[in-house]
Amino acid sequence: MKRRVLTGITTTGTPHLGNYVGAIRPAIAASRNADVESFYFLADYHALIKCDEPARIQQSTLEIAASWLACGLDPEKVYFYRQSDIPEIPELTWMLTCVTAKGLLNRAHAYKAANDANREKGEDPDAGINAGLYMYPVLMAADILLFNANQVPVGRDQIQHIEMARDIGQRFNHIYGGEYFTLPEAAIEDNVATLPGLDGRKMSKSYNNTIPLWLPEKELRKAILGIVTNSQAPGEPKNPDESHIFSIYQAFASADETSAMRKAFADGIGWGDAKQKVFERINVELAPMRERYETLIAKPGDIEDALLAGAEKARALAQPLLTRLRNAVGLRSLRVQSVDDSSSAKTTRDDKPALQPVVFRGDDKAFAFKVLDAKKNVLATQGGFADPKAAMAAAQAAMSALS
Ligand code: TRP
Repeated sequence: MKRRVLTGITTTGTPHLGNYVGAIRPAIAASRNADVESFYFLADYHALIKCDEPARIQQSTLEIAASWLACGLDPEKVYFYRQSDIPEIPELTWMLTCVTAKGLLNRAHAYKAANDANREKGEDPDAGINAGLYMYPVLMAADILLFNANQVPVGRDQIQHIEMARDIGQRFNHIYGGEYFTLPEAAIEDNVATLPGLDGRKMSKSYNNTIPLWLPEKELRKAILGIVTNSQAPGEPKNPDESHIFSIYQAFASADETSAMRKAFADGIGWGDAKQKVFERINVELAPMRERYETLIAKPGDIEDALLAGAEKARALAQPLLTRLRNAVGLRSLRVQSVDDSSSAKTTRDDKPALQPVVFRGDDKAFAFKVLDAKKNVLATQGGFADPKAAMAAAQAAMSALS
């Protein structure tokens, strides 16, 4: 089985150079690895936790989707979708909520930080905190566990959330006695550059020091010329290892280009010239992508279609698992004799294949399938397929998820 790598991008902002270097570029490079199955999604449910401006959520979703596509993400090769197009995610969130210890959520960093800030101000600890912030780790666990991801590339601030997803998944597996979920691991990319921003601190929306990724050429140049430097004059030798300008250059340049720049610093290159070189180097990389971005963003309908197609692909994986989970927790048809998923799995392991697919025509004339166990219990069923082949394929997928 291929390693599954999954990550979400919260849709509250406009992509900046730091996102490109720290997340988009490495993720797209990783998605080209034939040994991995990649899942990238727009975490718009997460966005609602901190943003109540509908237009901004929509615009950010559009910009982020267009950015990833412009940078070379191939939606045919990966799963690229919008969280809110996958109703299985909120459904799983609830199932997980009911096995999550409240105390675990009390200890989540983001919630605790908001609590502490309130206490410092002498206010009620929960003042102004919505329950979405509190539930954030459970929603994130559902994102990850629904697709049985093995690895989740995240920043250090998110490690705790991955550990919580493991905890929650493990608890569900334990309570319902089955290997329903793969336990994910955080993949921390230590060799991925973090880009300094305009003021030298890490480029981040929260510091308000970002350079938007798709600035027109002239404005990009202006922004780069505006990065702070010290007051060393042209001709003075400069220390590259203490220079943000150098770090930014390095994040884009090849090894050879980087050592040439190192030498230029030693030779006393002026800040203006150094920044011009930084601009040129970044612009060479971005220009063709910028052009693609402009084309993409002008056709939001095409991006919508790509996301909907991605959601359909992702749901084909999610639905059979959800069917199995619903069955496991007891949310199941009254026509069906109670079947304990874990014990039925045990008794069938050595026997003849106990699951059987049946394709039939529903009342609506569309094709449907059922998966029956040896006792003719219906373990899964779904309708609405255009042809029997599609129904059978879905039945097979449901069966492999069930066994
Ligand atoms: N919480 C992540 C962030 O702010 C975004 C996110 C949502 C995510 N769901 C996820 C990341 C699942 C990885 C896996 O960066």
